[in-house]
Amino acid sequence: MPIDLLPLHPLFVAEAEGFSLDRALNDSERQELEDALDSFAVLVFRDQNLSPKAQMDFTRSLGSIDMGLLKVLRSHTTSENAGLIAISNVDRDDNLIEHSDARMMALYANQLWHSDSSFKKPSAKYSLLFAIEVPTDEGDTEFADMRAAYEGLSYSRQAELQGLEAEHSAFFSRMQLGDLQYKPDDLEKYPSVWWPLVRDHPASGRSSLFIGAHAMGVTGRTTPEGRLLLSELLEHATKKEYVYRHKWRKGDFVIWDNRSVLHRGRSYDLSHRRELRRSTVEDAEV
Ligand code: OGA
Ligand code: MN
Repeated sequence: MPIDLLPLHPLFVAEAEGFSLDRALNDSERQELEDALDSFAVLVFRDQNLSPKAQMDFTRSLGSIDMGLLKVLRSHTTSENAGLIAISNVDRDDNLIEHSDARMMALYANQLWHSDSSFKKPSAKYSLLFAIEVPTDEGDTEFADMRAAYEGLSYSRQAELQGLEAEHSAFFSRMQLGDLQYKPDDLEKYPSVWWPLVRDHPASGRSSLFIGAHAMGVTGRTTPEGRLLLSELLEHATKKEYVYRHKWRKGDFVIWDNRSVLHRGRSYDLSHRRELRRSTVEDAEV
């Protein structure tokens, strides 16, 4: 089945048509989808109707499931579809979750620019987010093109970054938000990992900045120097020209390549229901 692509931004992101996603893909369809992701980095499918099982079957046809932080966050997944994460302010009994509830921390942390699972090796290749119920005109998700951002750096800055690595920690983004609920036992499950600040995409060959809220330091730099470099790079990489803002509609299914883009959720009135489901494909590179 051919995939029709309608670009939604000058640099990246396309709306994809002609694919029914409620089943696993065959080899040629998978290749076509991956080729589209290699070039556009974010694909938007409208009007989908996916059961949790169908989403997991589809996700598995793209690779093995990334379990993210689920070793610590048991409460936010459904056991029959392990690896499917409720990105939702509504609990299993269909009640709104209180804004001060510890379960909201994951949602707040999602509002910082990040690449999913950058705190572990391997990190996430693709994330797949399906909108079940979304508020109108708020709670958008933004994506920033880290390939274009890298290419937009001066040559001297690009050269300076070669060989540098950033330390990524699962808890750094949350601790920035004052979330200190983790026990030593939890912390041990996700020791820091180091990733090059610039990663080359194995398929497209393009280099991209690999930064975001889990990055807490840079090898060879003092803590403040490392953090200032990271914040300077993030500021550059999330300039308007590199950013696409997705306005969700019920039934949207968005797939992105975490090696090529950063993303963040935008705030919304928490008394409005916002219910999405995410599944994640683990990358191969370690
Ligand atoms: C995610 C995420 C942002 C949002 O699901 O990985 O970061 O807008 N979501 O919900
Ligand atoms: Mn995320």
